[in-house]
Amino acid sequence: MTGTASTTTQPAPKGELMIRTLAMPADTNQNGDIFGGWVLGQMDIAGGVACFQRAKGRVATVAVQSMVFHRPVRVGDVLCCYVEITKVGRTSMTTNVEAWILRRGEGTREQVTEGVFTYVAIDEKGKPRPVPAEGAPLA
Ligand SMILES: CC(C)(COP(=O)(O)OP(=O)(O)OC[C@H]1O[C@@H](n2cnc3c(N)ncnc32)[C@H](O)[C@@H]1OP(=O)(O)O)[C@@H](O)C(=O)NCCC(=O)NCCS
Repeated sequence: MTGTASTTTQPAPKGELMIRTLAMPADTNQNGDIFGGWVLGQMDIAGGVACFQRAKGRVATVAVQSMVFHRPVRVGDVLCCYVEITKVGRTSMTTNVEAWILRRGEGTREQVTEGVFTYVAIDEKGKPRPVPAEGAPLA
């Protein structure tokens, strides 16, 4: 059929942007690409920031349930981590974390990773504490 309007939808990050940082030469692996552990660490920080906000205080990472590396990250790429809290338990919060890059010199946006991270709200002694109700005032 001719004359049909194209309605191609660009893929977009899911969740809220929590951190945006620059991949530096010190973060490379033996291949010259960015070390996967660095990317995972940034995603862990992003999930932790989101859960710190939700739990109104300290949290600790208790599990990384899954981690998929779709595309390499290179020096000079801008890494953006997006977080969606998918489940809130009594003391735990499960998050989907996606990392996207703004590719250096190309201006394109690509998803590079996704993972599922779980955090536990902890008290000053490092023991689990209940996640407060959403919208609750600071304790
Ligand atoms: C996080 C920590 C305080 C939890 O203490 P714990 O005594 O094991 O806690 P519990 O068994 O009571 O579990 C607490 C919550 O975590 C969840 N949980 C525990 N282990 C889990 C796992 N492997 N995967 C997913 N969720 C888990 C429980 O289901 C529970 O959730 P709920 O309260 O919403 O039902 C403790 O395991 C810890 O200090 N771990 C080290 C944290 C750390 O150093 N992280 C890296 C640096 S941030």
